[in-house]
Amino acid sequence: MVPSIVFASGKGGVGKTSIALNLGILLAKLGKRVVVVDADLDMAAISIMLGVELNPITLQNVLAGENSVTDAVYDGPNGLFYIPSSLHEEGKSVDLTRLREAVSKLELSYEYVLVDSPPGLSAEARAAITSAQELVIVSTPDPAALIDSLKIRKFAEKNGVNVIGIALNRATGDKTEMKPQDLTNVLGLPVVAILPEDVEVRRSASMQVPVEVRNPGCGFCKGLRVLAGALTHDQIPESKAGAFSSGGGDSFFSRIGAFFKKLFGGK
Ligand SMILES: Nc1ncnc2c1ncn2[C@@H]1O[C@H](COP(=O)(O)OP(=O)(O)O)[C@@H](O)[C@H]1O
Ligand SMILES: [Mg+2]
Repeated sequence: MVPSIVFASGKGGVGKTSIALNLGILLAKLGKRVVVVDADLDMAAISIMLGVELNPITLQNVLAGENSVTDAVYDGPNGLFYIPSSLHEEGKSVDLTRLREAVSKLELSYEYVLVDSPPGLSAEARAAITSAQELVIVSTPDPAALIDSLKIRKFAEKNGVNVIGIALNRATGDKTEMKPQDLTNVLGLPVVAILPEDVEVRRSASMQVPVEVRNPGCGFCKGLRVLAGALTHDQIPESKAGAFSSGGGDSFFSRIGAFFKKLFGGK
């Protein structure tokens, strides 16, 4: 069977894109044929995280019926494939029902199709959640995120998407945080991985080099290996520490600043 897995959450900023992209890179490193689909149509993020300014054909073109999904596949790091959303085409008229068709087509030629959903339950998020066979809810360890996760779970179950469990991200271990057991008790779902709050994730986003490329020995990447093991049922080898590279001397912010200036013009 070829699983398509969507990463969804109630709130934004909980780490869906960071998890989907870096998990994709990890699985690709392990020799799997993986494609990550940026289904956050309004807030495209995968190409930003990869530092790619222009992808001529995007998911918007596919959903508008202008291109086949295979036209929108690009090579990412370490053998990963990805389908970007457009950074420029807000307001393009798209047919969201085409997303499920696109994902089903990808299921035929990839071992894993990882779908990065927008937050909440907007029409776009609903389309993303129902485009995949399985769902991982990404949550931070706070009560508000938990209530939202419950809504996502209910929506997915009503629509026949198998909910695998929760990836608990940005955990600090502070005693005020919700514990994995609390989440399981309330949501009735297993916590399949705990990913710590890790400054390396933010640094990598600023440098536009995914953390699994830059620093696969970091704490977040260790959590990713647990998640990969839970999703694939494979033994995932430890990451090699020491792969850290500073990424070439530019300061984080000068680099991403220059990127946005090129994209949108700068004042
Ligand atoms: N475990 C983590 N530790 C530290 N920062 C994180 C972690 N996960 C995500 N982030 C940061 O939080 C922000 C939102 O992450 P992102 O993956 O874009 O979330 P989402 O896709 O859910 O909106 C980004 O700046 C990212 O670098
Ligand atoms: Mg995102």
